[in-house]
Amino acid sequence: MANGTNHFVSVADWSADELLRILERARELRRLYHAGERPQTLQGRTLAMYLEKPSLRTHVTFEAGVTQMGGHAVVLRPDQVGIGTRESPKDVARNLSRWVDGIMARTFSHSLVEQLAREATVPVINGLTDLLHPCQVMSDLQTISEKMEPKDATVAYVGDGNNVANSLVLLASVLGLHLRVATPASHPPAVRVLQRAEKLARESGARVTLTVDPAEAVRDAHFVYTDTWTSMGQEAEVEKRRKIFAAYQVNAELLKHAPDAWIMHCLPAHRGEEITDEILDGPRSLVYEQAENRLHSQKAIMERLMAPAF
Ligand code: CP
Ligand code: NVA
Repeated sequence: MANGTNHFVSVADWSADELLRILERARELRRLYHAGERPQTLQGRTLAMYLEKPSLRTHVTFEAGVTQMGGHAVVLRPDQVGIGTRESPKDVARNLSRWVDGIMARTFSHSLVEQLAREATVPVINGLTDLLHPCQVMSDLQTISEKMEPKDATVAYVGDGNNVANSLVLLASVLGLHLRVATPASHPPAVRVLQRAEKLARESGARVTLTVDPAEAVRDAHFVYTDTWTSMGQEAEVEKRRKIFAAYQVNAELLKHAPDAWIMHCLPAHRGEEITDEILDGPRSLVYEQAENRLHSQKAIMERLMAPAF
């Protein structure tokens, strides 16, 4: 970033080696957590959390994570802070940088998180924007790694070409993974993401393919991933989207093409829309592992950014 501070705005800003180091530490932090150990690596440090959108997992896992490491989190509500109304993003970032050791932001506009990162002299962590959800896919990588070597896995994403899909595309492209994405032609991943991914994949050897056919994407995949058809902020389009994505439901019929696949979803799920109860609650579902790994992977990200000695 311009001012030399490390941020976690996109996985594409990090090298494969750096992401794999974070993954290894996340796996270790999970082991330690289950052994009752909580390394106090953020003692005395504060994370400010700015949340423009609802959240269960991101909010709780960042707050619990920083607490478990001996630090403290402060929640900032948009109506209190008024970024862009009461005060400019630049002034908010510069003030916070004088007091806290890191900022996690969940916003509508991706450019707002980019702007905070440009102005802050403490690390900014992207807790989801309309474009990307990098912390989610780090936890997904950890979840995949618990089942098999990610490099050997075929991951299929079915549904909307949204923030989660975009971050999966970038993660696969940095790490050289095999990802198939099935979306309607009208809702592919973002053009700027695909352009960046193409460049990254040339170096990493990633195989990222796009199709409109969910059966083609999931055929013999090791992991089948889906997300809501209506992301936060798109609620007015919910009826229209139900029609557009109707053929993209992850259900028993689709999974006949991938009988041994593990099932992934970032949650919250809209049961009966993008995924059936039977599959979400079935024996191959990893969704609560993904949710748990949000805690461990974000602790690793916070340590890396806010306590770099570790
Ligand atoms: N997966 C995820 O980010 O969940 P929340 O929206 O509840 O934070
Ligand atoms: N695509 C979803 C992800 C929620 C974690 C959304 O942006 O609402």
